[in-house]
Amino acid sequence: MYETGPLRDVTGATIRPGGLALTDRALEVCAFTIGAQLLDVGCGAGASVEHLRSRYGYDAHGVDISPTLITEGLSRNPTMRLEVAAAEALPFVAGSFDGILCECVLSLVEVPLKALVEFVRVLRSSGWLILSDLFVKTETEPRDYPRGAVARDQIESWLFQSGFTIVMWEDHSILLKELAARLILAGCSLDGLCCGTSGSGQRPGYYLIVARRA
Ligand SMILES: C[S@@+](CC[C@H](N)C(=O)[O-])C[C@H]1O[C@@H](n2cnc3c(N)ncnc32)[C@H](O)[C@@H]1O
Repeated sequence: MYETGPLRDVTGATIRPGGLALTDRALEVCAFTIGAQLLDVGCGAGASVEHLRSRYGYDAHGVDISPTLITEGLSRNPTMRLEVAAAEALPFVAGSFDGILCECVLSLVEVPLKALVEFVRVLRSSGWLILSDLFVKTETEPRDYPRGAVARDQIESWLFQSGFTIVMWEDHSILLKELAARLILAGCSLDGLCCGTSGSGQRPGYYLIVARRA
């Protein structure tokens, strides 16, 4: 779904609500210095990695589980450092990065807590995490949280358990609505966008979190 097709036609290079404007908003909070080492986990075709390098001068790397998207990114810009890897098993030694971005990915990961623990491992002490994704605003009944969008409490609990302190939590659900409207106007289905919430009585939203490792 993220490699080709209607969703890509509508979103373009950044495969998520908000695009690079939401990335810029989070970067204002972190205030990294030029040359900071950043990792974009689930980087897709590398749009944010390219932006972090060209606009800010950060030393940005990207990993994604999709070989197709990594190949697409490297074809566009062979100087980017992109490789195929899963969020739950990052191919970097402990303490490699000043910051991690994970934009519209965590709800797709099989065991989100495992990925967050892995982020803590590869971050330096006081390193930053920029997380944006879908969440559910209302739940009709408790559930045991399979893969997919979950409630704010659950995300906060995972962050706490893995060793992060939340510095900022913002609701950007309007950006999800805007993307949904663009998809509808383009004649596309919303099935993939709502991450298991459609038809379930749950209202999806979109959050931006900035968190810090101890
Ligand atoms: C909605 S797209 C977002 C891509 C990119 N972050 C962006 O905003 O343009 C979700 C991405 O997560 C990747 N992904 C899904 N599960 C993953 C995992 N376990 N580890 C790494 N990447 C994963 C997909 O291949 C896809 O590129």
